Amino acid sequence: MARAEKSECPSFPWPGGKSGLSRKIIEYVPKKGRTFVDLCGGRGNITFRAIHAGLNYQGWILNDTLTAPFFRAIRDHGDKFKAAEKSQAEFDRCAALAKDGEPYAILMESHLCYNGGTYVANKMRGDGGGRRTAESHTLNVRLAQKYLLGKKVGITQKDWRDCLEAAQLGPTDVVVIDFPYLNCNVGAFSPESICPTEAIEFLQKAPFPWVFCEYYQPLLVVAFGEPVFKQEVQLRSCDVQKTRERRTECIWIYDGKSASTVTVTFEPVSEDRMQIYYTHLSESELLEEIKQCIGSVNFSRNQMQREMRQRLLPALLELKNRTYRKKPGFYDTLAKIGLNADTGAPVVLSFQYSGRSYQSAGRTVRSS
Ligand SMILES: C[S@@+](CC[C@H](N)C(=O)[O-])C[C@H]1O[C@@H](n2cnc3c(N)ncnc32)[C@H](O)[C@@H]1O
Repeated sequence: MARAEKSECPSFPWPGGKSGLSRKIIEYVPKKGRTFVDLCGGRGNITFRAIHAGLNYQGWILNDTLTAPFFRAIRDHGDKFKAAEKSQAEFDRCAALAKDGEPYAILMESHLCYNGGTYVANKMRGDGGGRRTAESHTLNVRLAQKYLLGKKVGITQKDWRDCLEAAQLGPTDVVVIDFPYLNCNVGAFSPESICPTEAIEFLQKAPFPWVFCEYYQPLLVVAFGEPVFKQEVQLRSCDVQKTRERRTECIWIYDGKSASTVTVTFEPVSEDRMQIYYTHLSESELLEEIKQCIGSVNFSRNQMQREMRQRLLPALLELKNRTYRKKPGFYDTLAKIGLNADTGAPVVLSFQYSGRSYQSAGRTVRSS
């Protein structure tokens, strides 16, 4: 029996997709609400899983700048679709038809193209890229249509920020965010299409809950805290067959309420303090020292985050705007000054340790 029949959840697996992780992602989504937004739908795997899991949302938005035509083709033509067997001739025929927006060719794209990509960016899918039969692909497309029509899913093709601003979301909505991964090039789309710092800044102040998927990135840990879920996986990239690199797939969540303000008190460390200082402390003094030190460490971390929000992120955002669709682009320009823009890690650390001005004797400092 074909897979779609057994599991009854349509899926379109590909290396950058979330058909595998979708169950876990949905565990972090509130069971009901007003609008469910799949911001970068890809092949729709998260939305299909959410519908399959019985999430109760009044409205559904499936957005993607690149793959919205795929969703429209499923919605409008899924019931009549019947996939042909994979062959180079079928690939070439569909690649030509897709240029004219032929729905059959668009529906065949993820089945025929390497990495589930596009006719333009990816070659034909070899045996290693996908083992799904034509019959199984047909069943998945047809079932996917039932899901889209059943929930009257709205399909949009907006840039992520335009999509969120247009939807005017609030605390009873939820957004699932699966941007192109920062250091992965899957061919069909590029991480350059999203400015991570702009997204971070936007999401930190979001008035709606969200669930965010990415590999483990120091920049994201600083911005959002530790992820609620981590799993070791094989690196997703165009070179999946050549590389055995591992990455940690993560999920971050946010409840839609901005972080509250806290008050932190700290003492600076005197310049001449030595290890011997601690041998003379009583146990209660030692504990007090540990307590104060933790407050000071928290303060420094908050200062670092503030520095990132108020200086680093806006500067990176401006650079991103200036390098948009230019060569060299954002990543290449940063690489020229020796920064790994994928993670921002070296940037973060240098800010943290050069920040002498944070030290201030016995003051109470308000820090967000
Ligand atoms: C990692 S994939 C999403 C995979 C999807 N969750 C799935 O399971 O198939 C990222 C998607 O983001 C889309 N994308 C890239 N830049 C975008 C942008 N600026 N706004 C909206 N979507 C974008 C890409 O077209 C791509 O389909």
